[in-house]
Amino acid sequence: MLPVSLNGSHAPQAIQKVIELENKNIVYPQWGIAWGDWQEGKKLVESSRGGRYASYGFSDKPTDKGGNCYACHIIEKGVPGGTLGPQLTGYGKRYEITKENMNTPEGLEKLKTVYKIIYNAWHAFPCSAMPRFGYHGVLSPEDVINIATYLLHPKSPVNK
Ligand code: HEC
Repeated sequence: MLPVSLNGSHAPQAIQKVIELENKNIVYPQWGIAWGDWQEGKKLVESSRGGRYASYGFSDKPTDKGGNCYACHIIEKGVPGGTLGPQLTGYGKRYEITKENMNTPEGLEKLKTVYKIIYNAWHAFPCSAMPRFGYHGVLSPEDVINIATYLLHPKSPVNK
């Protein structure tokens, strides 16, 4: 199922404004939308590092990065995760991605949809608790495409 956008005519003006602004804040990979490396995406999804700072002296290095996605999502079957966000197990199946259709214009459009959610969740879910990873520069466009690939690719353990 594609995410429900709040773009309808009933959305209050303020929400429309946020959606417009956040859409403008999305930067795409230089090479355009193409499938990345799901194994690299998996590493970032599982890493809790990046941008953490604690006043008692602990902090991440600028080179530490990750999405900490399991803090809020259940992703691979049987791996414990958080429940603040929706369950993402079998996410690629939900989008009906197969190895036959993944490189068609429709398949790439679905990859783009998920890229946008991870890059800047607020363009679809205004003021969501989900961090805007790309917008804040925590993850690069390449990182985001690798994570979207991990969620959707038929070979990824997310879809086993
Ligand atoms: C602080 C909690 C939090 C973290 C961390 C987080 N998310 Fe989310 N995520 C959410 C919430 C909450 C939603 C639901 C959107 C809403 O209604 O606000 C969501 C929605 C999503 C969706 C859309 C689900 C759908 O129904 O289509 C995807 C995809 C997603 N997150 C992927 C990720 C990935 C990948 C990461 C790590 C890079 C991540 N999230 C990190 C909270 C989080």
